[in-house]
Amino acid sequence: MNFELKTLTPAQAAEFPADALIVLVPDTAPKGDTPLHRLVAQAIKGADLEAGVGKSLATYRPEGFKAARVLLVRAGAADGAALRKAVGAGIAALKGPGVAHIGVIATLVAIDNAGLRSAVQAAAEASYVFTTTKPSAKPRALARVSFGVADANALREGLRAGKALVAGVEFAKEWANRPANHATPSMLAEAAKKLARGGTIKTDVLGPKQVEALGMGAFMAVAQGSAQPLRFIVMHYQGGTKGDAPVVLVGKGITFDTGGISLKPAGEMDEMKFDMGGAASVLGTFAALAELKPAINVVGLIPTCENMPDGLAVKPGDVVRSMSGQTIEILNTDAEGRLILCDALTYAARFKPRAVVDIATLTGACVIALGAVRSGLFSTDDGLADALRQAGETAGDLCWRMPLDDDYAEGLKSNFADMGNVAGRAGGAITAAKFLQKFTAELRWAHLDIAGTAWKSGAAKGSTGRPVPLLLQYLIDESQRKPAKAAARRKG
Ligand code: BES
Ligand code: MN
Ligand code: ZN
Repeated sequence: MNFELKTLTPAQAAEFPADALIVLVPDTAPKGDTPLHRLVAQAIKGADLEAGVGKSLATYRPEGFKAARVLLVRAGAADGAALRKAVGAGIAALKGPGVAHIGVIATLVAIDNAGLRSAVQAAAEASYVFTTTKPSAKPRALARVSFGVADANALREGLRAGKALVAGVEFAKEWANRPANHATPSMLAEAAKKLARGGTIKTDVLGPKQVEALGMGAFMAVAQGSAQPLRFIVMHYQGGTKGDAPVVLVGKGITFDTGGISLKPAGEMDEMKFDMGGAASVLGTFAALAELKPAINVVGLIPTCENMPDGLAVKPGDVVRSMSGQTIEILNTDAEGRLILCDALTYAARFKPRAVVDIATLTGACVIALGAVRSGLFSTDDGLADALRQAGETAGDLCWRMPLDDDYAEGLKSNFADMGNVAGRAGGAITAAKFLQKFTAELRWAHLDIAGTAWKSGAAKGSTGRPVPLLLQYLIDESQRKPAKAAARRKG
């Protein structure tokens, strides 16, 4: 999909040639005497256009306009959140087989770079279609969205950021939406390698032999019941100075989670194809980095495998040795995410990172705690937690900090190993995070539990592409902070 910016006077706005126009309407009627002004003023005055962001009024061949279909949409204060809602509603109302080019007239509202980025994001979101395994799906007809603004030059950065964000979110959606037989660990690794073709990203892929040599016994235990070989994907984006400590992103890449021997019930088990949503968000973030090119170094780590029951599968009670040397009694094979992540977190330390953020569809308990609105945020470092929370607010991709009191780790004690991998039902999202924390002693670390936010269920079943917007925003913000030369700060 193509996005472009055009400087338009209000007079030119009415004559803008497109299959349909969205006119963003401010709260109060703007002064002026052009067809655009008259149409908007009349709609507001006649009370035909309800108040409230996203409320719209469809018109057909209004006087003085070139486009046949003109949709007036309330944009309120025209900030990021309002534009996301207004443009999303507008595109959703207008999209259809005959609409390839939509003009969004934003000359009557005060739009800034962040606002334009949100508008671009919303336009893509509202017109997204997954077609890879559905030949009968009508592909996205919308090929071009032109934003008509008062001064295009002032908004170039917003357009660039919006396009990069869309590339990232759609990359993540594509891979998360693919069924598990179209997104095996090897296929994810190939996708990561393909991202490296552009030149700005470097990708290394480790297989079972190398992972064994590293001593990743926890990761291997999860993979051992599957016919699909595991992969450990290592990606490098170097936009900063060589030697600057990188941010490391670690994404859970369970391409299908049956639960293993601790088998899940059949209902909605198909949704466990989304259990690589963390991995997809890391891939998507890298796709966005390659386009946006911020001045920061980033490493992406993706441990990826299936969690299957099988004659060779790991059994409840089995004890495995993690790369850190700590042993784990696997009491429930369905708590597999933490097992693949713990070895990746140990591996992360070798990059002497300025921060490590893992992203995982980790617990059903997090869905119960926070629902689909906010991702769970856990961190031992207040500065990192604040930075991530703020990035989420800026990007409209929200998260909420959860506690990490040591008392929550009590239930992880085991008589047969250094720890168990589960701790009962109570506080399940937190005890999972406490498990991960045992592998982050030397790191400035945060964990995002995206079990509730990575995909939608029901009729709108599909990946949300979250938390790519949050991660990209965090990395942009971080690129504007001074890199910590003395990396791997101890936890606060
Ligand atoms: N991938 C699941 C978590 C999940 C479940 C995400 C449902 C979204 C919706 C994870 O691997 C898992 O199975 N977690 C268990 C942990 C339990 C065994 C301690 C869970 O949440 O039930
Ligand atoms: Mn599981
Ligand atoms: Zn899982």
